[in-house]
Amino acid sequence: MEKVEKFLKEAGTYYLATIDGDQARVRPFGTVNIFDGKLYIQTGKSKAVSKQIHANPKVEICAFKDGEWLRVAGILVEDDRREAKQSMLDAYPSLQGMYSADDDNTEVFYFKDATATFSSFTKAPEEVKF
Ligand SMILES: Cc1cc2nc3c(=O)[nH]c(=O)nc-3n(C[C@H](O)[C@H](O)[C@H](O)COP(=O)(O)O)c2cc1C
Repeated sequence: MEKVEKFLKEAGTYYLATIDGDQARVRPFGTVNIFDGKLYIQTGKSKAVSKQIHANPKVEICAFKDGEWLRVAGILVEDDRREAKQSMLDAYPSLQGMYSADDDNTEVFYFKDATATFSSFTKAPEEVKF
């Protein structure tokens, strides 16, 4: 899981795909944080992406860096604990102008039943489950 977090942080941007009824949706994301042994991402409850995750938490993310790409497919579980949100905001001070652990908007999700696959054109894919 540490390798997945490192790749996503170094890539800087990953793309989060959700399902909206029968329509795929994708957008750039950047937040990633390991807390309590789990891999978290962050969003705001006011966003369409949040509503899609709550309706169907099966998502996939994809990032590309240095000729290698990573996909993480899994189920996102909301963690409403203040300390989980604060840990994320501590990792991203730039978010603290927009979000706080005590507002009604900030939300963090961790990956459950995740399969991460590192791929490239030159090597066999490597799979990590967490
Ligand atoms: C580089 C980059 C990183 C971003 N990271 C996040 C993020 O971690 N969480 C988030 O909620 N929005 C993030 N955004 C903003 C979302 O992409 C944007 O709000 C998007 O419209 C949300 O999807 P939706 O319109 O389907 O709700 C980021 C945008 C960019 C350009």
